Amino acid sequence: MFVGIDMGTSSIKVLLINHEQVPVAAHSISLSIDRPAPGWSEQDPEDWWHAVCTAFDALKKNHPKELAAVKAIGLSGQMHGATLIGADGKSLRPCILWNDGRSASQAKALELAEPGFNSIGGNRLMPGFTAPKLQWVRENEPLVFEKIKKVLLPKDYVRFKLTGEYASDMSDSSGTLWLDIKKRAWCNSLLEATGLTAEHMPELAEGTDETGRLRPDLCQEWGFRSAPIVAGGASDNAAAACGIGAAQDGQGFVSLGTSGVVFVANDRFSPNVSGGVHAFCHALPETWHQMGVVLSAADSLNWLAGVLRRSASDLADEVGLISNPARSMFLPYLAGERTPHNDVDIRAGFLGLSHDSTETELVHAVMDGVAFALKDCLEALKRAGTQVDQLVAVGGGSRSIGWVRIIANAMGIPIHVLSGVNLGAALGAARLAMAASGASLAEVFSPPNTSRTIEPDRALSAHYQDAYGRWRRLYPALKETGF
Ligand code: XUL
Repeated sequence: MFVGIDMGTSSIKVLLINHEQVPVAAHSISLSIDRPAPGWSEQDPEDWWHAVCTAFDALKKNHPKELAAVKAIGLSGQMHGATLIGADGKSLRPCILWNDGRSASQAKALELAEPGFNSIGGNRLMPGFTAPKLQWVRENEPLVFEKIKKVLLPKDYVRFKLTGEYASDMSDSSGTLWLDIKKRAWCNSLLEATGLTAEHMPELAEGTDETGRLRPDLCQEWGFRSAPIVAGGASDNAAAACGIGAAQDGQGFVSLGTSGVVFVANDRFSPNVSGGVHAFCHALPETWHQMGVVLSAADSLNWLAGVLRRSASDLADEVGLISNPARSMFLPYLAGERTPHNDVDIRAGFLGLSHDSTETELVHAVMDGVAFALKDCLEALKRAGTQVDQLVAVGGGSRSIGWVRIIANAMGIPIHVLSGVNLGAALGAARLAMAASGASLAEVFSPPNTSRTIEPDRALSAHYQDAYGRWRRLYPALKETGF
């Protein structure tokens, strides 16, 4: 038996699979986000740990025999969060999350002062990443900064609580922007630029390495027969790729989660700094990946559903299988945007509404707007030299076939839809646990069963290319008007 823990933003999922990778049980606990100021986004690390314990307690209650036989645990998690740990092993302040934009001015200043962030770190220094967040704490909360012993990513805080070890994997560590991505090692000059040293960082491991064993008290509490090993694991995006077996050059997915992601595996480090492409290490040794990130993907539909007091999936179902792009347009910049604009200040917009615009038209425009933003990501990846012929759809929003069809037509490539329940990053984390306990990589990271392939339709795709051309001209106009 193997466990995958996905430390997400909206929930924590703990998944138990057997040696054939068949899911045996899963337990999920919801999390909330605190937004103490406009553009800020935080969570209390204690809430994560409490949720992990509640999920294990539930698994112990309902599946004690299976849980007792667990050999290894893998971790996956929301990226970039700054979890600051003091000498007593406790967090010094709430974690500043991936979608928090407070450190925009620090990101700009650091990028000018240290060009290595672009060349060695391989990426634009975006406010969502960890390095500028630490600079913000250094400037605004010096008493907290002084007390920092370790800087951990969210899933690595959970690892510390599970094992007592400070460790991280390459894919998640890439998103701090303190890593030399090509060499897969911490970079002293990048750390120094934010007043830190390698001492503040956890030990680095590959996703398939062992990083310690479960603490004896927890083994006893949850009834494990022998202490499971804890694998390096991965960022949630790299873990989702592991979950669908995307490890070879050119394989990838489009994710419709809280954020939207276009992810492609690479056999070498391939940055496109000016296009806002994230060029990071993959979770498997000697592999890298590129991704473009849309900050509000399914979150845009969730936002509209909240305003309309409806369920997001009902709204998407009502749009159904469309035959044209929506007449009105939506720019999904509710929390600013990463790829390609790297613009934390921009805000969302609806355009082209008329007296006869209906609720369904607004929903359709939101689905189109997210598809166009994902197309922007795909184009940025292509400009970085990546050839993408097809993608697999993952994430909660991919349950809407209508939405996946819009994306396939906007992108002009076939998109495969997974059959059965989409276990996503939790499955990838459990697969990394299997690999860490000795299973062969080729056997573990097999491609998934796909239930159908959505091919772009020639006429519909042409309409979408035309609409995308017009949509592309809206960002500069929105920017110009100061939104
Ligand atoms: C990726 C990113 C998001 C989070 C969401 O760079 O910020 O996809 O990982 O969990």
